[in-house]
Amino acid sequence: MPVYCITGTNRGLGLEFVRQLAQSNDNTIIAAVRSLSSDLTDLKAVASPTTHILECDTGNIPSIHTFVKAVARTLGEGKKIDYLLNVAGVNLASSQSSLNLGPDELHAQLSINVIGPAKTVELFLDAGLLSPDVRVLNMTSGLASLQLSTQSARKCAGYSISKAALNMLTVHQSADLRAQLPGAVVIVMDPGWVKTRMGGAGAQMEPSKSIGDMLVVLHGLRPEDTGSFYCHNGEKLPW
Ligand SMILES: NC(=O)c1ccc[n+]([C@@H]2O[C@H](COP(=O)([O-])OP(=O)(O)OC[C@H]3O[C@@H](n4cnc5c(N)ncnc54)[C@H](OP(=O)(O)O)[C@@H]3O)[C@@H](O)[C@H]2O)c1
Repeated sequence: MPVYCITGTNRGLGLEFVRQLAQSNDNTIIAAVRSLSSDLTDLKAVASPTTHILECDTGNIPSIHTFVKAVARTLGEGKKIDYLLNVAGVNLASSQSSLNLGPDELHAQLSINVIGPAKTVELFLDAGLLSPDVRVLNMTSGLASLQLSTQSARKCAGYSISKAALNMLTVHQSADLRAQLPGAVVIVMDPGWVKTRMGGAGAQMEPSKSIGDMLVVLHGLRPEDTGSFYCHNGEKLPW
C-alpha cells in the first residue's frame, strides 16, 4: 500500500497524477488542494476510496503546518509517505522580463514555487512522516535550466528564476535528506509543455502522456539518481 502525497491536485498535472494513481485502490493518495472551498468537482470525480482530500496552501507556512498534522491523523500510527510530489506552482506575470521584474510577483513565485516545497519536506521530515526511502519529486520546468536558457529567447523571467531556485533547493534537499534518511531520493522533473491552464491550449502534450511518463521514471528511481534533473521521459536535462 504505497502512500502518495501530492500538492495542487484540483486541476492540471496534480489532478492527472491523482487520476492515474487512483486506478488502484492499493495506492493511498493524499490529494492536497490550496483551498477546500475551491471547485473540487474534477478531483472528486477521479478520487478512489483510498484518496483523501486535504487543504494545503503551499504559499502559506501555517497552512503547511496544519496540513502536516492533518496528514498524520489521516495516515494513522506508523504509516509514512513513500512518494511526495510537490506539483503546486504558479507562473505569474509571464510577460515580465529581467528588465521589468515586479517584486510582488517574484516574491509570490518564490513563496509558492520554492519555500512551499522546502517547508513541506522539512515539516514532514520533522513529523517523522517520510519513509526511509522516500521519493520526492519537485516539479520544475525546462525554463529553470541555465544552460538551455542561454540558447533560447527569454520569457517568464520571474518564473524561471523561481524554478532555478527550486532546482538548487532540490540539490540541497537530496544531500540533507540523505543524512537522515539514507534511502531518500529527491529529484526535479520538467513535465514538458503540457495542456493545462498554465501550459495553455496550444501546448504540445496531453497531461495523460506527461504524467504516465513521469510515473515510469518515478517508480524506476535508484538511490544514485538523487539530485537529478529529468525531463518527463527520463532524459537528463542540463542544469
Ligand atoms: N503545464 C506546463 O506546460 C508546465 C510546464 C513546466 C512546468 N510546469 C509545472 O507543473 C506544475 C503544475 O502545473 P500545471 O500545468 O498543472 O498548472 P495549473 O494548471 O495552473 O495548476 C496549478 C496547480 O497549482 C495549484 N496552486 C497554485 N498556487 C497554490 C498554492 N499557493 N497552494 C497550493 N496549490 C497551489 C493550483 O491550485 P488552485 O486552482 O487552487 O490555484 C493548481 O492546482 C507547476 O509547478 C508548474 O510550474 C507546468
